[in-house]
Amino acid sequence: MPQHKLQVEAIAHGTVIDHIPAGMGIRILKFFQLSNQDHPITVGLNLRSKHQGKKDIIKVEDTVFDVTQANQLALFAKDATINVIDDYEVVEKYRVTLPDAIGSVLSCPNSNCISHDEPVSTKFHVSEAASGVILKCHYCEKSFNQRLFNELN
Ligand code: CTP
Ligand code: ZN
Repeated sequence: MPQHKLQVEAIAHGTVIDHIPAGMGIRILKFFQLSNQDHPITVGLNLRSKHQGKKDIIKVEDTVFDVTQANQLALFAKDATINVIDDYEVVEKYRVTLPDAIGSVLSCPNSNCISHDEPVSTKFHVSEAASGVILKCHYCEKSFNQRLFNELN
């Protein structure tokens, strides 16, 4: 059997975020400021995928995300798989799930929203509609399609 190489080199320890829709990898890197940390990160964009056609992949060495952090990724990549790697082995694998609420990382697009004046962290209630993921601000109660945040952030 010929040995096929991985499209992005294996890592020894850390987390592989797999099955990211092509095009979302860069957004996730920016949005979660992953590259601001000290850990080596390797990224594959527009890789061939058995299930998805094309996908992005992000490998963050020496880092394990907690489930709350990982589920925030579902806003951008609802079918992402989180793989925890220890000594080159996948020791944990799970799919992200859309959280019920998301805080602090997003700012309310409504400029009149009280969350901009108060020293509070933002909070949005998350739901899914035919048009995509909907985020409703806890403070001004306005609803926004998640795609709007992609453009703003
Ligand atoms: N991986 C890695 N470094 C390792 C082990 C795995 O970067 N030491 C990556 C693989 O390249 C793959 C992901 O982690 O992108 C999951 O690995 P694995 O479960 O072995 O791959 P698949 O079976 O293809 O995963 P799935 O069934 O979730 O598609
Ligand atoms: Zn608001």
